[in-house]
Amino acid sequence: MQTYEGTIERILFDRTEIAEAIERLGRQIARDYAGQPLLLLGVLKGALYVAADLARAIARSPGGPSHLEMDFLVVSSYGNSTRSSGEVRMLKDTSENIGGKNVLIVEDIVDNGLTLSYLQALLSGRNPADLRSCVLFDKPYRRRVDVPIEYVGLVAPDEFVVGYGLDYQEKYRNLPYLAQLRSWVFSE
Ligand code: IMP
Repeated sequence: MQTYEGTIERILFDRTEIAEAIERLGRQIARDYAGQPLLLLGVLKGALYVAADLARAIARSPGGPSHLEMDFLVVSSYGNSTRSSGEVRMLKDTSENIGGKNVLIVEDIVDNGLTLSYLQALLSGRNPADLRSCVLFDKPYRRRVDVPIEYVGLVAPDEFVVGYGLDYQEKYRNLPYLAQLRSWVFSE
């Protein structure tokens, strides 16, 4: 995109690599939940694209859930910085009651793990039948909590990354690939 030109240092995963990872996750999830109902719970804003693309990848895969519901919640943990504050704020909760359901949390990226860990604790307290997590990009280098993740798409480098739903100061979400920004962008 014109406005982002010159700010991208390098592309880490292009649209084909991301699509293949989501297709692979879709096949695994379709197999694991075959014949059972499934609630995909996307964590906004970052998981906007992965939740939508994953739901369709599951539908294309053999087997698959008996039916699939989608819901979203909105959390904020970064503000405008590039490091998680450790303080997770719930901006919008789920619309539906998750009690008794097979819930799959869909996250864009996990870094220190605090956001996902907070959500797992919160949601497991609501008595779902089953609670698992799916993450498109994993940055396993700076974990502050040990967080179980059943489905991982791609392992990203230890960098602040943008695109495919991930932002820096609310920008870059709509890039179709995952990218690293030039360092001067952060000092602007
Ligand atoms: P954690 O709490 O450090 O695991 O971070 C989880 C959340 O922080 C994710 O859902 C993202 O919204 C955001 N985040 C973590 N790493 C990045 C990144 O490299 N770029 C953009 N957002 C990130």
